[in-house]
Amino acid sequence: MTYERTNIAAMQGYVPGKQPESSDTIKLNTNENPYPPCAAVMAALLQVSADSLRRYPPPSADGLRDAAAKLHGLTREQVIAVNGGDELLRLAVTTFVEPGAPIGMLEPSYSLYPVLAELHGSPVVRVEADQDFLPPADLAARMNAAGVRLLLLVNPHAPSGRLTPAARIADLARAFSGVLLVDEAYVDFVDPKLGHDVTALVSQFDNLLLLRTLSKGYGLAGLRVGYGLGAATLVSPMLWKSRDSYNVDAIAQRLATVALQHSAQASETWRLVRIERERVQQALCALGFQVGNSQTNFVLAYAPSGAQARRLQSELEQRGVLVRYFGGPRLDDALRITIGTPEQNDRLLANLRELLPAA
Ligand SMILES: Cc1ncc(COP(=O)(O)O)c(C=O)c1O
Repeated sequence: MTYERTNIAAMQGYVPGKQPESSDTIKLNTNENPYPPCAAVMAALLQVSADSLRRYPPPSADGLRDAAAKLHGLTREQVIAVNGGDELLRLAVTTFVEPGAPIGMLEPSYSLYPVLAELHGSPVVRVEADQDFLPPADLAARMNAAGVRLLLLVNPHAPSGRLTPAARIADLARAFSGVLLVDEAYVDFVDPKLGHDVTALVSQFDNLLLLRTLSKGYGLAGLRVGYGLGAATLVSPMLWKSRDSYNVDAIAQRLATVALQHSAQASETWRLVRIERERVQQALCALGFQVGNSQTNFVLAYAPSGAQARRLQSELEQRGVLVRYFGGPRLDDALRITIGTPEQNDRLLANLRELLPAA
């Protein structure tokens, strides 16, 4: 006897990357920042008062929303604070999609998207990413034709790391007739030389919602906090109707506010990651991997011919180095490898050198 709804009973559920027990393990499988949050955040943690824990937190997290609004030159009404970016995805689904109506996404992309659609009883409209993992030119037209009301687009793209330029995002928002959620989980790691910033577009398009998280750029994956940016009319129903009453806890609100106020410190970690990204990419290519351009804190590396990505992943794991293997169309030969500290990356590369005898 099962009491589950039929769609829940039929579904698999999201499979998160492994979290090792041992601190010796090199964890390059879930795209965490290899560097800790800045000193001001840790100081704020020590100052959390018993009273702030006794009480409920500010329900709409106004202090955190103000800090995010200031950082992006927006207003508080254009910001919603969430319990990790994943909560924003769930809120967007429950707020903007009639149960059973289709949800659109590129294939491949973040593997949580189809799980959220299944939970909602919604079919998924998948459009294959182009050769370079970017949205094809007819994406909006195909989504409109399929009656999609919410299109989930991760940019920079996961798992490839490729960046869709801001002008293309604007074109998509203009052409798509539903809500375009651009998941910017990894945007902090984009090379500043590219001048990529789509935040101003939320004042221009009332159907554009941006997802931001402090899990990656700010080294706060354990805190579970992020935010959404969008037109006040898009934010308001999630903020005042579909969100849990106290969705972001008191500690998360306080620490995230401090983190955003000290974003210059976090940006130093982004710079270090970018330097290592370049080095790891070159070293992997020298080992025979094919690695495309990444603007994130990970690379998608296609195994040299003769070496199987799945086998490499499990052999690395036996040696205490975790990387992610997805498999499936276009990813069968690929490993997604998070950029770690220089020492962690050295260990990854040394192990790969041993495992690839011909290299
Ligand atoms: C593409 C993408 N979007 C969103 C998230 C959500 O991150 P969080 O819920 O930790 O903020 C992740 C986390 O891995 C991700 O990879």
